[in-house]
Amino acid sequence: MIKVDLSYANLPEDLESYKDEVAKIHETIHNGTGAGNDFLGWRDLPTNYDKDEVARMKAKAESLSKEIDVLLVCGIGGSYLGARAAIEALNGLFPTNKVQMVYIGNTFSSTYLAQVKEYVKDKEFGINVISKSGTTTETSVSFRIFKELLEETKGKEVAARRIVATTDAHKGALKTLADNEGYEEYVVPDDVGGRFSVLTAVGLFPIAMAGIDIEEMLAGARAAQNDYNNPDLDTNDAYRYAVARHILGKKYPVEMFVTYEAQLRNFAEWWKQLFGESEGKEGKGVLPHSGVFSTDLHSLGQFIQEGSKVEFETVLRVVKPQLDLTVPSDPDNLDNLNYLAGKTVDYVNKKACEGTLGAHANVGGVPNIVIDLDELTAYSFGYMVYFFEIACALSVYMLGVNPFNQPGVEVYKKRMFHLLGKPGYEEL
Ligand code: PA5
Repeated sequence: MIKVDLSYANLPEDLESYKDEVAKIHETIHNGTGAGNDFLGWRDLPTNYDKDEVARMKAKAESLSKEIDVLLVCGIGGSYLGARAAIEALNGLFPTNKVQMVYIGNTFSSTYLAQVKEYVKDKEFGINVISKSGTTTETSVSFRIFKELLEETKGKEVAARRIVATTDAHKGALKTLADNEGYEEYVVPDDVGGRFSVLTAVGLFPIAMAGIDIEEMLAGARAAQNDYNNPDLDTNDAYRYAVARHILGKKYPVEMFVTYEAQLRNFAEWWKQLFGESEGKEGKGVLPHSGVFSTDLHSLGQFIQEGSKVEFETVLRVVKPQLDLTVPSDPDNLDNLNYLAGKTVDYVNKKACEGTLGAHANVGGVPNIVIDLDELTAYSFGYMVYFFEIACALSVYMLGVNPFNQPGVEVYKKRMFHLLGKPGYEEL
């Protein structure tokens, strides 16, 4: 399903020298003896998931889809990026399924929220509010506004039926509210952090609402769990990627995740959070950055080719595109494109990728790790999620950092609460 090609990586060190360290960290991950070991739930999730909850989600998705045209997915960071990544990757940017996804709860932009309000006010909409803590301010502010709109336009009973809450099993303001209002509730497991939660209800309910087969996605993740439960660096491609980025990270402070598929732009956002929030601590880590090529070759390409050498690239190639088109022949050939007539657009895309790999890696001195994904399906998406999660865990442990906390995120919140006059934040 996934193959890692290091032929353009120009690694200054040999992977082989990391074999023992990788085998040790593999044991640490699987024995649960490393830092942050109370957040390892993602590791066994594809086999240990709550089957009853998945059945409940499927049933609710089926009934709610008949009643609404828009689902407001209300969450931030790990509480929405995975769902958005999956839905756009699999359904594309112009989806034909009935329920349209609109993302709220991830911004304080008043203009954006006011525009969404205007857009949905006369539509049949529902809300999936997603927050593990149940107290995240961006999410809570949005939820309050749109819950009020739904109750005002449809009445409390209909609103309660159309609101689904995904939160902690026992605690938090959202849990209390959901209990009181009688919302359908799903659980964010205690031992799964936000950025590792796409294969819990956090991601799975919105994904099911988008008409995607969530059991197939879990099956793909299960295959990856099986394939990557393997300490051997020679044969574990997730670990080969992790070690390659670790080696390159010693020299380059930036890793640019590159895709040639427009529908994967938000997968790159998910990847950025996964690696950035896991690794960027204690003054360490590689800054995750991203681009969609060839689009961004016309904006960032110059810098990558000839600018300061701050980055390496990780290129995700989808071997078989979901759809393809053929370049037509034109008898006048005024655009001089007949040399491509009869070729598919994906053929051109693949050649653009090959040419860029050579240009960046061989001419520009920018190393490229290439990750080939066979195809984009629910199954392969689940597989790929697990690939990056396990690669992230290994890579971050190699830096000697706890991959599963995010203490730095609290700093802006404290200052914001102080400025907003939130009780308890009088002193900085
Ligand atoms: O990865 C994380 O932990 C964060 O991105 C959180 O998911 C994000 O801050 C949202 O938190 P919560 O789900 O508690 O609202």
